[in-house]
Amino acid sequence: MKLSLKTVYTTTPIFYVNAKPHLGHFYTMTLADVRNRWCKFNNRDTFFTTGTDEHGLKVQNAAEKAGIEPKLFCDGLADKFKELAKLGDIKYDRFIRTTDVDHYAAVNHFWNTVNDNGYIYKGQHSGWYSVSDETFYTESDIVESNDEKTGKKIMIAKETMNEVIFQTEENYFFKLSKLQKNILDYIKSNPKFIKPQKYYDFIIHELESRELPDLSVSRPSSRLQWGIPVPNDDNQKIYVWFDALVNYLTSEGYPNAKEFPKPTHLVGKDIIKFHCIYWPAFLMAANIQLPEQVFVHGHWLMGGRKMSKSRGNVADPIEISNYYGSDSLRLFMMRYSVLDTDGDYNEKTLNALRSEFIDKFCNLMIRSLSKNFSIERALGRLQSNKLETLLNEVNDEEFKNSILSVQLQINNLKNDIDDDITNFDMYKATHKLFSMGPQINSLFDIYEPWKLKVKQDDDEMTKHNKQLKQDIIIFTALDSLRVLLLLFQSIIPQYSKMLLDRLNIDSK
Ligand code: MSP
Repeated sequence: MKLSLKTVYTTTPIFYVNAKPHLGHFYTMTLADVRNRWCKFNNRDTFFTTGTDEHGLKVQNAAEKAGIEPKLFCDGLADKFKELAKLGDIKYDRFIRTTDVDHYAAVNHFWNTVNDNGYIYKGQHSGWYSVSDETFYTESDIVESNDEKTGKKIMIAKETMNEVIFQTEENYFFKLSKLQKNILDYIKSNPKFIKPQKYYDFIIHELESRELPDLSVSRPSSRLQWGIPVPNDDNQKIYVWFDALVNYLTSEGYPNAKEFPKPTHLVGKDIIKFHCIYWPAFLMAANIQLPEQVFVHGHWLMGGRKMSKSRGNVADPIEISNYYGSDSLRLFMMRYSVLDTDGDYNEKTLNALRSEFIDKFCNLMIRSLSKNFSIERALGRLQSNKLETLLNEVNDEEFKNSILSVQLQINNLKNDIDDDITNFDMYKATHKLFSMGPQINSLFDIYEPWKLKVKQDDDEMTKHNKQLKQDIIIFTALDSLRVLLLLFQSIIPQYSKMLLDRLNIDSK
């Protein structure tokens, strides 16, 4: 696939393969997929990637626990993520795995560039390390706690509540401290770089309130076998985040491609420091342009609480999709997706929304396609006359205004939701699309076109007026439905296709 500077490039984070996919993963994939489909529908040149993050201690430990060789273990789980993408109609251009051969080459090249530019050095590292978070923490980031199972005293990270252990080892370091001011300056002069605003403010605060220590970017091979070796030093493996972030470049054909479009990254709120501080710093050190924007989303909870296996409140996107259809889940997540808050998954709400869609749009279609009306006649009439001309003939101001108002809103809708979708404000777009349903339906309720039947003793004028009004209503309803379904496609590709096919309308 040839990319150019104009390509709209959307990414999801790449998912850890230490466990099977959950709702949060499907949410991220769907948000990015909707944006990408939308841009493609609007004839923009697009590129969309998702994939799996396969190295690191977390995966090494999970594979060991399962008694499977790491690569085979990763193959199995990467397939699960691909299956989910297929089931959920996630139309990516590249599914990148950090075990892909071209990724190894890209990471090597990237490391060497950063190293040649003087941003990497070797040193001693001591600190509190969390395997689950794949992160070192400082003294101020940790607190004492009791292990739930053994009751023993342990140290945990305040932010994630995951256990940390004290470690001293030799590592390569990245000179993050040297770039702190540059990153701050860059973000300050690009106020749209991080969205929503509260995350922008958080990152500015992080950069202004303390001096960032240099970042350890390798692990001893004795502890971490499952990783990409540091070039020219087999005793060290590249830190999983340094490796993983480069996926966004690998997918663009780094280092060989000619043009690199700036990606728009979509990330969950837990990984913003990696994308808004470390990644810009790595890129600056490699002399590569920074991403276009980073959008941050909240997490899905269930019953107001974090989903967890032990609590038994985990929503499985595969199970839900198999039962309700993946479009129902896509619709639910997009309708209730507000980036700067967490969402609460609720099956009843999902089911109600699905019924609402059927009620508003499928019933509207059934109503419009009733045998009481002649669609051929309505289409024929509108083919040879302008709607405005026909409306003037009807001579009913209120009727004319209702039709024109629906038509105007429908005509503006595409432009109106363009910003919403490209900025991941999916609830706004979905709400606007939904709100057109009742307006079109009300044309039926108010003007009751089925009552505009021609009677035997109607004179020519009455007959003409009745048929004209009926045709205008049917045309307006069906044409609005056509536009709505075309615009709905990015959110619910299957439902839209089914209904567009019924109307014999090309999806483009
Ligand atoms: N592998 C890293 C990302 C590397 S990107 C260079 C990672 N993987 S993850 O599998 O743990 O998380 C992937 C994404 O899923 C993150 O953006 C995370 O925020 C998101 N989610 C994890 N749980 C979630 C919910 N409950 N709800 C919504 N998104 C959630 O981090």
